[in-house]
Amino acid sequence: MFNGDVIDDHDANRQRLIRLLQDAHAGELAAALAYRAHWHSLRHPDQRDEVRRIEAAEWHHRAEVADVLRHLNGRPRPRRELLMRITGRFFGALCFVTGWFGPMYAAGRLEGMNVCQYETALELARGLELAGWLPRLEAMLAEEERHEQWFGDQIRHHRLLPVARFFLGWSPPPAIATA
Ligand SMILES: [Fe+2]
Ligand SMILES: [Fe+2]
Repeated sequence: MFNGDVIDDHDANRQRLIRLLQDAHAGELAAALAYRAHWHSLRHPDQRDEVRRIEAAEWHHRAEVADVLRHLNGRPRPRRELLMRITGRFFGALCFVTGWFGPMYAAGRLEGMNVCQYETALELARGLELAGWLPRLEAMLAEEERHEQWFGDQIRHHRLLPVARFFLGWSPPPAIATA
């Protein structure tokens, strides 16, 4: 009876992890497409370069997530992929019409959600004893935290931040003190 419960938990957590990674795989596509448009819309060279680097990181994450999914005998969900492709293109196009603050804030908020997603993935992967995959998931989590920090740093003193925070809830992570 007890062993059956453990197996049920194991299978349920494996399914949860597959589902979460399917969402992450599609989410990385949306993020990469949106960032591609975002950096094209930016004027400041340093900001363009950084968002371009972040776009490359999201493509890399997508490949990493695909590897883990394959290992778990999972596959991306085609409808989710299509929906996120459309979403990424839509928000990418918005970058050219909404001004500077909106896309920066939206990106920071998205990265904050990605951080939570990879934290949960890591927790599940640890429980499922997928030790070999943990370093890759940890690296992705650390990278998403860097992204959230960078976008947060861009807008933390912007006059529209209090309004966005009020309606959308996300705040930039605390600034990292430099020596
Ligand atoms: Fe990512
Ligand atoms: Fe990211």
